[in-house]
Amino acid sequence: MKILIIGNGGREHAIARSIYLSSIPNKIYAIPGNPGIMQYAECLNISSDNHKDICNFSIRNNINLVIIGPEVPICNGLSDELEKGNIKVFAPSKFASQLESSKSFTKEIAYKNNIPTAAYKWFNKQDRALQYLDSLNTPIVIKADGLAAGKGVFICESKKEASESINEIFSGKFTDNPSLIIEEFLNGEEVSFFALVDGKDIQPLISAQDHKRLLEGDKGPNTGGMGAYTPTPILTNNIIGQVMNKIIEPTVSAMYKNNTPYKGVLFAGLMITEKGPELIEYNIRFGDPETQAMLMLLKSDLLSMMLDTVNGDLKNTKITWKNEASLTVVLANKGYPLNYKKDSIITGIEDAEKDPGIKVFHAGTRLENKRLIASGGRVLNVTATGLSIEEARKKAYNAIEKIKFKTKYYRKDIAWRAMN
Ligand code: AMP
Ligand code: GLY
Repeated sequence: MKILIIGNGGREHAIARSIYLSSIPNKIYAIPGNPGIMQYAECLNISSDNHKDICNFSIRNNINLVIIGPEVPICNGLSDELEKGNIKVFAPSKFASQLESSKSFTKEIAYKNNIPTAAYKWFNKQDRALQYLDSLNTPIVIKADGLAAGKGVFICESKKEASESINEIFSGKFTDNPSLIIEEFLNGEEVSFFALVDGKDIQPLISAQDHKRLLEGDKGPNTGGMGAYTPTPILTNNIIGQVMNKIIEPTVSAMYKNNTPYKGVLFAGLMITEKGPELIEYNIRFGDPETQAMLMLLKSDLLSMMLDTVNGDLKNTKITWKNEASLTVVLANKGYPLNYKKDSIITGIEDAEKDPGIKVFHAGTRLENKRLIASGGRVLNVTATGLSIEEARKKAYNAIEKIKFKTKYYRKDIAWRAMN
C-alpha cells in the first residue's frame, strides 16, 4: 500500500513511524518531510501548498491514502482536490474544516446544539466591538476569526489590553477582511481531546494535556506547544462520557445532518470547569506535540484505524493503548516564538535514543553536509514512555541532557500539574 504524508513537523514524524510499524505492508512518501521522517519515507521536494503537484504525484503513483498533518492545506481544500482525482484522504473537506478555520462557524454549531462553550459575540466593525467591550467585565477573551497559528487569541486582564487587541486585529495583521469574537473567560484546566470520525461513527482516542505557553508555570506568550503528556488524570470516565454526549456527538451529528459529514481526526480543545467540560475550540487535525506522546502508547495499527476512518468503517474498530504514560518535551531555538536564533549543529540524538523508552522526533531540523542543523522554531520533540508520568518525565529530561545544540531552549516543568 502506498501512503503519502503531507507535513514536516514532529507530528508527521510520529505518524510516519506508526505507519511504518503497521502490519499492512506499505511504502511511505512525504511532502516535504524532514530528516526524521526520512528514516521511514521517501521525501519529495514539493511544497505542502503546491496542491497541483501533490495531486499529480498522487494520481501518477497510485497513492492509496494521503494523510494531511497540518491545518493549512486542509483549510485550503487539499482533501477536496485529491478526492476529485479519486484519491483517499485522511482529513476533512474544506467545508468541514471551518470547525477550525472559522470561530464563528463553530460557535454557531455549538449554540444551535446546546454544546457548552463560552458565551460570545461576533464583530466585523471595530467601533461596535469597542462599544460592546465597555459593557463587560474582565478577564475577557478576544479572538481573531480565521487561522492565526495560535497567535490570534488574546486573554485580556484589563479593558485597556482588550481594546488594544481589538485594534490590533482590525489593523489587518491576521487577515485582509478582519472580524473577531469577544468571549467569556473560562476558568479551569485545559485538555486536548481527540476522536476519529468517519462521517457518522466516532472512536475516541486517548487525550493529552499540552503546555501552550513559552515559560515555566504556564506563563509568557502562546506558542504552538512546548510539551505534552498523556494520559490526563483530570479526564475521568465520567468526564469523558460528558465530552462525548454533550460536545463531540452533537457536533458530528450536526455535520452529518447538514450533508457535510466530518471525516478524519477531530481535536477538541476543552476547558474542564466547575460546571463540567466546555468547548474552547476545534482543530481538524492531530495536535502537535500531543500526537508524539500519544502515538508512543498506541497498541493498535494506526494505518488500519485511518483506513477504517476514510472507508466509513469505524463502528467496530477497536483501539487499544499501552497502560503506561508518555511525555514529550519540545526543544526549541532560543527566541521562539518570535525571532529565534538558528542554524546551530545538533549532536547526541543517537545517544539519547539508546534507552528503549526514548524517541526523538524531528520538527525544525535540516541536513547540511551530513550534519543535523537546528533550523526551525520548534526543533526536536523528546518523547519518553514509562510506567508513570513521573518515570516518563525523568527519562525525557535525562535524554535531553545528552542532546546538544547551542541555542537549545526548553521548559523544565512539563506535566507539572500531573505531579503529586
Ligand atoms: P484557541 O486558539 O481558541 O485554542 O485559544 C488559544 C488558547 O487560549 C487556548 O488553548 C486557551 O488556553 C486559551 N483560551 C481560549 N479561549 C479561552 C476562554 N474562553 N477562556 C479561557 N482561556 C481561553
Ligand atoms: N498543540 C496544539 C495544537 O496542535 O494546536
